[in-house]
Amino acid sequence: MSYYKIEDLQHYFKMYNKSIKEPKKFWDRIADKNFTWYQKWDKVYEFDMQKAEFKWFLNAKVNITKNCIDRHLSKRGDKTAIIFEPNDPNEEAQHITYSDLYVRVSKMGNVLRDQGVKKGDRVCIYLPMIPELAVVVLACARIGAIHSVIFAGFSSKALQTRIIDCDSKMVITSDGGFRGNKTIDLKGIVDDAVEHCPCVEKVLVVKRINSEVNMKEGRDLWIEPLLEEASSSCLAEIMDAEDPLFILYTSGSTGKPKGMVHTTAGYMVYTAYTFKNVFKYEENDVYWCTADIGWITGHSYILYGPLLNGATTVIFEGVPSYPTFSRFWEVIDKHKVTQFYTAPTAIRALAKESLEFVDNQDLSSLKVIGSVGEPINEEAWHWYNDHVGKKKCPLVDTWWQTENGGIMISPIPFVTPTKPTYASLPLPGIQPVLMDELRNEIEENQVVGSLCIKFPWPSIARTIWRDHQRFIDTYFKAYPGKYFTGDGALRDEVGYYRITGRVDDVVIVSGHNLGTAPIEDAINEHPAVAESAIVGFPHKIKGNALYGFVILKEIGETRIQDNVRKEINQSISDMVGPIAKLDKIQFVSGLPKTRSGKIMRRILRKIAEGDLSNFGDTSTLLNPEVVEEIKNERL
Ligand code: WTA
Repeated sequence: MSYYKIEDLQHYFKMYNKSIKEPKKFWDRIADKNFTWYQKWDKVYEFDMQKAEFKWFLNAKVNITKNCIDRHLSKRGDKTAIIFEPNDPNEEAQHITYSDLYVRVSKMGNVLRDQGVKKGDRVCIYLPMIPELAVVVLACARIGAIHSVIFAGFSSKALQTRIIDCDSKMVITSDGGFRGNKTIDLKGIVDDAVEHCPCVEKVLVVKRINSEVNMKEGRDLWIEPLLEEASSSCLAEIMDAEDPLFILYTSGSTGKPKGMVHTTAGYMVYTAYTFKNVFKYEENDVYWCTADIGWITGHSYILYGPLLNGATTVIFEGVPSYPTFSRFWEVIDKHKVTQFYTAPTAIRALAKESLEFVDNQDLSSLKVIGSVGEPINEEAWHWYNDHVGKKKCPLVDTWWQTENGGIMISPIPFVTPTKPTYASLPLPGIQPVLMDELRNEIEENQVVGSLCIKFPWPSIARTIWRDHQRFIDTYFKAYPGKYFTGDGALRDEVGYYRITGRVDDVVIVSGHNLGTAPIEDAINEHPAVAESAIVGFPHKIKGNALYGFVILKEIGETRIQDNVRKEINQSISDMVGPIAKLDKIQFVSGLPKTRSGKIMRRILRKIAEGDLSNFGDTSTLLNPEVVEEIKNERL
């Protein structure tokens, strides 16, 4: 395409090679040039891949909020830091300047301190997408508390597991949230969760929907009166480069979520660097990422990355379908958004609606459009490129993970020619490799292998909260000396990567990573269920949907079976969250198992996908007759 200049791509390769040959020099320069430090580092990095130990910018002292806010005050005090676009388009948008943000974060930091939160304490945050969510996150970082944001779509049980796991002394929530034409009772969910969390001393509550909520004496406090009293300057805690900044939970192949720990300096340097380059951010741009701050994308590319660059970032409370399917496009026009970053599942959902919704809006402000969270299929890619980017905005298909902290593989706008379904080239400093089953590096093109990274980068997660062994086992055991992503990928002749999907027990449904184990646990809670297995299968809008194979203790009549189906989904909703509900539930008399008792999910996956031709090697199968039955009764 015409907007690429070959010199630029050559420049990328030059930079890339430099970053690989001399990573110390490369990252030293970036860290030195772009941030305010209390004290610089003695050493750029130190690591041990076997022990999964990583340190970046050793002994440096810094506070990330000084870099997100204070540093901008002299030049950009009156510049809008956050545009808040409410769920209801008739409610006025808010423009929060960097000076306002300074005051709001300082007051909130003081409130947290007054309520007994100290450096290193964990604070769980369960809030809708409102400015207070950003403010609370930054306030934690200001005073050195470790924030753990829990996506406000999770159930009380899921919330409770996370609060207990990180031993959080405080939970911050709101009286509720707006979402499309619904309201969500967040405080009620928190009450149910906290009842079983002895570690929680205080629950602070933000007013958003003005609903009647229960306030427990001695535990619950409205936040607004506390903020009014609080001073508007708040001394930033001096943090060591390796002090934890936050914990963010992600699904794994066992029922227990993994609390990924990110630390301060490396995360700061990498998110700032990648934000600027991947979105080609320029001073007067208005950047909008539609993710929720409850996920890593929101942490790194709604809050930290943009604010570190002094950018204007949009926080959107609503959903793409409310009040109509042109909502996203109207918001782009209204705020003259220049960079738009969303997920394939949203694109697919909008692409199936009338073209008028998108074509009737003025999207001429857009310069770069991005995608994240799951592979973007060819059809969605073209729709996004043609109707949103109007074939003039580079589409950056960004591959990365919670564990990575920031974008790892992505085109660079106007530099890397884009290719549908390919995340393209690694960013400087990132060294991907593809591994075969014998743990050899795959050199050939177009061969799918396990995607690994063979050298650390500044924002690699440092551990799983209080479970370093699990960190080693999950990411550093399968391919010794390398970080294993859990994704499959292939490479083309130019060196572009195409991510083919998860190779483990995680299924991405509508962009949400769901471990199969906690969902199976929820199904098995049902008194009529003996055993279950779930797998993903392709879905036109959601990317993947879930298919459950369930053994009942007694085969009842159809009417009862239908009830059990409903109850199973209710149990999943309660234990994990509504996003994890099953699309299909097939009752079976047994599950295909190996002689060692492991469920052969590969076969179930094929059946769920409707690919009944070849199940591969089934010689270790204990009960082949079950496969026939399941196949014949497939839904
Ligand atoms: C998937 C989200 C293909 C992948 C930032 C990864 C992608 C998981 C892409 C991490 C992409 C993310 N193309 N697949 N551009 N981006 N993924 O932790 O399977 O919520 O391992 O982080 O999403 O999801 P997570």
